[in-house]
Amino acid sequence: MKKRILSGVQPTGALHLGNYIGALRQWVDLQHETDAYFCIVDYHAITVKQDTQELYDNIHSLAAMYVAVGLDPSKVTLFKQSDVSAHTELAWILNNFTHMGELQRMTQYKDKAKGNGKQTVGLFTYPVLMAADILLYQPHMVPVGEDQKQHVELTRNIAQRFNNRFSETFRVPDVMHPKDGARIMSLDDPNTKMSKTGSSQWGYIALSDAPDVVMKKIKKAVTDSGSTIEASADKPALTNLLVIYSAVSGKTVGELEELYHGQGYGKFKKELGEAIVTWLEPIQERYHELIQNYDELQAILKQGQERASVVAQVTLDDVKTKIGVI
Ligand code: TYM
Repeated sequence: MKKRILSGVQPTGALHLGNYIGALRQWVDLQHETDAYFCIVDYHAITVKQDTQELYDNIHSLAAMYVAVGLDPSKVTLFKQSDVSAHTELAWILNNFTHMGELQRMTQYKDKAKGNGKQTVGLFTYPVLMAADILLYQPHMVPVGEDQKQHVELTRNIAQRFNNRFSETFRVPDVMHPKDGARIMSLDDPNTKMSKTGSSQWGYIALSDAPDVVMKKIKKAVTDSGSTIEASADKPALTNLLVIYSAVSGKTVGELEELYHGQGYGKFKKELGEAIVTWLEPIQERYHELIQNYDELQAILKQGQERASVVAQVTLDDVKTKIGVI
């Protein structure tokens, strides 16, 4: 039997190279050998303030990007979290198997709540909804970037706690990170992770960025002192650029180090920018076709909803029976 995987992305702006290298690249590689579920986690997106039209557009543009980067909707289940009400139902139940202290320790919560005296309950219980997203589908593995590791560990703890009390109910899933690129760093600050909500637009490359924007961002990217182009602990900026280069070119970091041995940063950056642009070209072409074909996107999400609901309901009914409500 194929192993099952589940993962998701928040529709909160354009997908960036960090999302692709940390998460989606693994999904594309695994889609043929696994039974795969990929979610657009729109209810997670509303844990921070969203504009109505923007959220609606972002959901559809993320669905188009999922397909454009190479996920085949006839093979994998692509769906929207809010289309499968079992997610919020199970999240409510799991709230009662999660301790306040566990949620207070979540670093993502601490970062997002920093300097904000009015954080919502939704932001606080965000990881419980994520646990529900995962556990409903009984996946063996959850392919994500490193920043989601703590959330998957919490999910495992909640699952074990429930299983211990009510007998085996949830599969306890393993987190899965890529060998390289589990944490892609910001281009303008190699000490912080690449993110769409990060300090500035120069920190990330969106998969929708135009060629001249990509070239400009790479040109402005921070490098390390010295002149050799190599990946090492004391060269975090160059290491990051080499991991990105490797992901878009298919060459290993070692091959790239050899290729640029004795070469200057200028040539390296120019060719890295060109490699990203070349890699993005077919993705953007497919994206533009899809985004204009709203009916096709709706049909993909509808089909995903139908498939996902069947699987999710089996787990939810089991849970509801065990706790005594049905
Ligand atoms: P999100 O939307 O922030 O990010 C989506 C995926 O991209 C990965 N990622 C990165 N990987 C490497 N380097 C980076 N700089 C980088 N930035 C982001 C993330 O690790 C993630 O895999 N809570 C999740 C969404 C979620 C989810 C789930 C994931 C909700 N339910 C169930 C898996 C399973 C999040 O906010 O990801």
